[in-house]
Amino acid sequence: MPDQAPPFDPSHRLRRMRRSPGLRNLLRETEVRVEGLIYPLFVRSGQGVNEPIGAMPGQSRLSVDLLADQAKEIRAAGLQSVLLFGIADEKDALGGGSADPDGIVQRAIREIKSAAPELVVMTDVCLCAYMEHGHCGILRDGAVDNDATLPLLAAMAVSHAQAGADVVAPSAMMDGQIAALRQGLDQAGLTDTGIMAYAAKYASAFYGPFREAAGSAPQFGDRRSYQMDPGNLREAVREILSDVEQGADIVMVKPALAYMDVIRAAREVTDLPVAAYNVSGEYSMVKAAAAQGWIDERALVLETLTSFRRAGADLIITYHAKEAARWLTGS
Ligand code: PBG
Repeated sequence: MPDQAPPFDPSHRLRRMRRSPGLRNLLRETEVRVEGLIYPLFVRSGQGVNEPIGAMPGQSRLSVDLLADQAKEIRAAGLQSVLLFGIADEKDALGGGSADPDGIVQRAIREIKSAAPELVVMTDVCLCAYMEHGHCGILRDGAVDNDATLPLLAAMAVSHAQAGADVVAPSAMMDGQIAALRQGLDQAGLTDTGIMAYAAKYASAFYGPFREAAGSAPQFGDRRSYQMDPGNLREAVREILSDVEQGADIVMVKPALAYMDVIRAAREVTDLPVAAYNVSGEYSMVKAAAAQGWIDERALVLETLTSFRRAGADLIITYHAKEAARWLTGS
């Protein structure tokens, strides 16, 4: 047994500055900004339809006519951005309805913009919900044809922008999709429409509840030939840098919780804003545990959101946004 205690300089006492709420508030390094939260919305056909999503308690698929009230509710909570997902009634082999000026998302954009013009409207740009096979692009010989898919994604983005979207967010994980969208938008005179790139999007089991909500599960196979392998970080950096080069305005990492190192890497390799997508499965896990009384939901959600920010995210896309905004503003 050594007769001396291990070295400890008694003048260095880290607990000194943790003693009171005042000191802790004073010294907190990272905070969640309500304005930096983005609320995802699922839109569907019909009139007066508010259809709850089973695996995502508190989230619904809403028909377009309910979006004006929803937009006002979102503003009242202090939020200022939404990300729209369309649930298509008609699916085919070419994602036919995706660029329809009167399609579900295009109508939703106009409805929200007329009810709450100051709300930033972002839209998911992907074909999986419009394809009968549920894959994110056109199929040729049973595989997704990257280059044949690009013009469809660009046309979809242009139609969203023409309907009034501020930012389009391509999530199909096709190579070159950011360049294709930027070129399509610019050629249509839509030089002010921003692009939020799903830059590092992994082939993840955390998307399960979303696919049920959007009816977008692949009918055969999986998405591993276009979404990333969960084991890869260096490849994520290549994806991010490639999207930056192609003209992205914001780069996103998805999912968030199990991919904090990727968020940190994104923060370090680019000066662009970084978004983290706190996906459906992450939300469902929290809701399920909270329903059992096994966790303190409010504390857990705020801790998680703070941690995304600490990892390097500027923006957080989260189904918790409305509740979190209320908790953060005390309203
Ligand atoms: C469309 C898309 C998906 C998500 C966002 N856009 C599903 C997928 O890639 O299978 C997942 C979002 C979530 O789980 O919350 N491609």
